[in-house]
Amino acid sequence: MSIEVTGLTKVFRLPSHAPGLKGALKHIVKPQYTEKTAVDNVSFTIQDGESVAYIGPNGAGKSTTIKMLTGILYASSGKVLVEEIDPFEDRMGNARNIGVVFGQRTQLWWDIPVEESFRLLKDIYEIPDAVYRDNIALFTEIFGLGEFIQRTARRLSLGQRMRADLAASLLHDPKVLYLDEPTIGLDITVKENMRQFIRRINKERGTTVILTSHDLQDIEDICERVIVIDEGKIVTDVATHKLQEMYAHDRGVRAVLKHPDPQLIRKLSEDLRLHVTENDAHTITAMFNINDYTAYEVIHKIGQLTDISDITVIEPDIKQVIEKVYRSELVVKEESLL
Ligand SMILES: Nc1ncnc2c1ncn2[C@@H]1O[C@H](COP(=O)(O)OP(=O)(O)OP(=O)(O)O)[C@@H](O)[C@H]1O
Ligand SMILES: [Mg+2]
Repeated sequence: MSIEVTGLTKVFRLPSHAPGLKGALKHIVKPQYTEKTAVDNVSFTIQDGESVAYIGPNGAGKSTTIKMLTGILYASSGKVLVEEIDPFEDRMGNARNIGVVFGQRTQLWWDIPVEESFRLLKDIYEIPDAVYRDNIALFTEIFGLGEFIQRTARRLSLGQRMRADLAASLLHDPKVLYLDEPTIGLDITVKENMRQFIRRINKERGTTVILTSHDLQDIEDICERVIVIDEGKIVTDVATHKLQEMYAHDRGVRAVLKHPDPQLIRKLSEDLRLHVTENDAHTITAMFNINDYTAYEVIHKIGQLTDISDITVIEPDIKQVIEKVYRSELVVKEESLL
């Protein structure tokens, strides 16, 4: 077992006082606090070599969870074991097992060349010479580190910095890799490069990957399992392909009409309660819930009202499902909870 989390909870205590000097003074005399439960009784286990997306809307508690898993933040209650180690009790032991990339922040030293940062990490983690040499060779090949390894981190572009950061997090062959928004702000080719590399590390080395990202493609491409968290609580924990089956209830039919028909949309919307949009004078798209209609029924109904020259069925897209997660629109059914 790679990661075992039981009843993990984080309550932040924030000073609360009325605005202005009077409020500030009052707070000094009699401090008042409000409490914010950022992570609320979260439990899950992750097996060796899994790739898991930990997703949810802004403020859901993703980064707070990752920080507790990495030992940066202590938990208010609950238990975390990563590779049998409590990350907060044994920070050094834990550090040897994990690699961490926070997209918003670098772990490289700003004012020394990247190569020197790597050497420092080699000493800190006591990485054997052969392992270090092989890893540098591999990362240089995959990430094109050669073009900027002599430069200080301060002088790197964001894409270069992220590549260097990911390489740095993997130098000591960690068993677990945490990635918090690793592709944020990157252009599309660098993103693709990062994804391929993370997949490769996961598959070839069996490195366990835990990823948070608002980029739906990252999740679809990298992760086999999705844990959804909202307001600090886990609402779904399921294989990525299952997410689609469980929540993608919307399908569509796009019809090209032989003759424009201004009344058609009204008839379909009112009589059949389909969600219809007009793409152009000749083309309409009718969205429907698979629990209400089959695609055949919808095509048949449209065919009764007008002449159709072409038809396409639009299948539900996993991205649409994940988008709903991020907009907190996902309605979770009881039976879907693990
Ligand atoms: N150090 C802190 N002190 C007080 N409150 C905090 C602190 N860190 C986070 N929070 C609060 O805890 C909640 C969860 O924050 P967290 O950063 O874990 O969210 P997130 O899921 O990573 O969101 P995002 O998608 O925006 O990165 C938020 O309401 C946030 O304001
Ligand atoms: Mg975050």
